[in-house]
Amino acid sequence: MRRIPIFLLLASGLFAQSIRFAADRQVFLLTTSQSSYAMGIAPDGSLRNIYWGAPLWSLDDLPALTPARELSSFDPRQMMENEEFPGWGGTRYYEPALKIVREDGDRDLVLQYVSHRIAGNDLDISLKDIRDSVEITLHYRVYPELGIVSRSATIRNGTPQPLTIESAQAAAWYMPAGAGYQLSYLSGRWAAETQLVREPIHEGMKVLESRKGHTSHGFNPWFAIDQGDANEESGRVWFGALAWSGNWRITVEQTPYRQVRVTGGFNSFDFSYPLKPGESLDTPAFYGGFSAAGFGGASRTLHHFERERILPGGAGARLRPVLYNSWEATEFDVDEAGQKALAGKAAALGVELFVMDDGWFGARNDDHAGLGDWVPNPRKFPNGLKPLIDSVNALGMDFGLWVEPEMVNADSDLYRAHPDWVIHFDGRPRSELRTQMVLNLARDDVREYIFGVLDKLATDYPIRYLKWDMNRPLSEPGWPEAGPADERKLWVAYVRNLYRILDRLRAKHPSLEIESCSGGGGRVDLGILERVNEVWASDNTDAFDRLRIQAGFSQAHAARIMSAWVTDIPNWVDGRSVSLSYRFLVAMQGALGIGSNLNKWTTEDFATATKMVALDKRIRATVQNGDLFRLFSPWAGDLTANQYVGADGRQSVLFAFRHSQQYNSPVPTIRLRGLDPRAMYRVESIDRKLAEKQPQLSGAYLMEAGLNVILRADFDATAVVLDRVE
Ligand code: DGJ
Repeated sequence: MRRIPIFLLLASGLFAQSIRFAADRQVFLLTTSQSSYAMGIAPDGSLRNIYWGAPLWSLDDLPALTPARELSSFDPRQMMENEEFPGWGGTRYYEPALKIVREDGDRDLVLQYVSHRIAGNDLDISLKDIRDSVEITLHYRVYPELGIVSRSATIRNGTPQPLTIESAQAAAWYMPAGAGYQLSYLSGRWAAETQLVREPIHEGMKVLESRKGHTSHGFNPWFAIDQGDANEESGRVWFGALAWSGNWRITVEQTPYRQVRVTGGFNSFDFSYPLKPGESLDTPAFYGGFSAAGFGGASRTLHHFERERILPGGAGARLRPVLYNSWEATEFDVDEAGQKALAGKAAALGVELFVMDDGWFGARNDDHAGLGDWVPNPRKFPNGLKPLIDSVNALGMDFGLWVEPEMVNADSDLYRAHPDWVIHFDGRPRSELRTQMVLNLARDDVREYIFGVLDKLATDYPIRYLKWDMNRPLSEPGWPEAGPADERKLWVAYVRNLYRILDRLRAKHPSLEIESCSGGGGRVDLGILERVNEVWASDNTDAFDRLRIQAGFSQAHAARIMSAWVTDIPNWVDGRSVSLSYRFLVAMQGALGIGSNLNKWTTEDFATATKMVALDKRIRATVQNGDLFRLFSPWAGDLTANQYVGADGRQSVLFAFRHSQQYNSPVPTIRLRGLDPRAMYRVESIDRKLAEKQPQLSGAYLMEAGLNVILRADFDATAVVLDRVE
């Protein structure tokens, strides 16, 4: 990225020392290119937050902590002290980071600093209960150039008696004391994920969470908080994202003492995690950042961080290929001849990865049977998958395959053999959703079985890509074999075993790529993103609906992971019809895919699509690895405009969409961002819907005078490609 403008930081030798400690005042200063985070050890041993915000450079500025002033017997000082990781104990009544119960029933937990260790960009701080050895290690990792601090905790039972954790959070974050804050978050449901909400933070608690066992469509584990004055490009924004694909919770609390606290980690609902003496539990990581450049700055920072540090392959990962997926074309009706025919047509368009979706295995002719039996259906694929894969490869495409490994239909050989493998309470109903049940991945035998199935598929066939689906949440979360004391460990063990399977698969098959799908965007978070190359953002493929889903998604997640398909009209979700170009221009803002039934396309459709796929290949590095500027929001008016600027600054692409013009009124002028004002750019309208006819324009003109696109009809769209003239 071309930022890190902070001269102060360079002057202070930041990159040599992102973590500093002043022993005289017992204060820590963690600094990145965009933020600083400060905390200190108070005289009573509590570890407390001092500051989070724009970069500070002088460690000497930080004061030694003193006890807060007690207001009354009802407002003890602890309530006003911003503890980094508050235990539930003493006179603390707010959301704790850790709540335990010891075997003897004692639940009091007051944590004090013991020691710390700084190693490069890592800081570990040890805390311990004032009486016994309930030991916490707080892990801080600073990503100096990327503007992110990661936090997590390890909770260890160093006492001689068992204890049970009732709530374990990764971190508590504090905004500077004040009021008037606004919370932005992503909520939704199936086929309407990642809708952006921004609302005032009032006294009390707002809970964002999943109780469903997966990340969920309901909320995405991300937040942004501003002081009520931020917009896309300016204003202070504090943000965070939790790396956990199971039950998670983020609480946003405003206290009567002008504190705004965000606490996040495992969902404490139905949580119970026993630790025998010597055992420990690691929380997920909670990543936090600060931007003084509004919501746009915050999301660009997070995207950059995801690309560099979260996604497999990091900055060097290959660009996402153009994909074809069979689902909307054929649903369960897949067979060798039909898929070969589609593959031939997809290859002619320039598709690089052909993915066969649901329906290829077991007795899978609809969603009532077959899940669990991961062998090719002999009627549909009499000679196995090899002939199809060979033909896909011969067409110059990689092959991808859909699986839903965590699930089983009652009508399957697997369930007939292992009815005890599903999540259930003995003697209670096993609710089916989409006529399927959930295998208990927390069990090691189930984990080994699933790994074995996938390993065999990846070994037997040259599969480049697995689309890993999960089409229902967990329910009746019993684990009879674990016993009543331990069975609620399922919530954690399930996810850890999921991660383990993915990690092992990737290690054993290094060229295998994986897509995370959960009926669309039900499993998108920084935990799964460490292990997958793409995610399916929504089952909703209506291009207009997608504009908002994608805009919300882009608050938290990078474009390169967002699989987006062009599908047929009228769209199955809402019956809407928009032009093929419109559908392509929406989908090209992620990892482009095609999910249409190519057998029904006209010659004109093929011509348009071939042109669009070629365009995508020219601009995808800019979209996938560049900076996103959301110029006009799909929530604000009838114009949506997004601009991407390539990481090397040499190319920029503007996408513009209009959904319902009236009175033949023109669209507003679009002023671009992120360009070099002194550079010249070659201006290429993809379809002559641009008022400006100058072949080249300066960055200054593009950003100050702006461009005028001509979008007349309803659901009209265009794109402009700008290439820097050297
Ligand atoms: C849900 C996914 O989101 C779809 O893309 C498709 O893979 C179906 N499952 C298949 O059952």
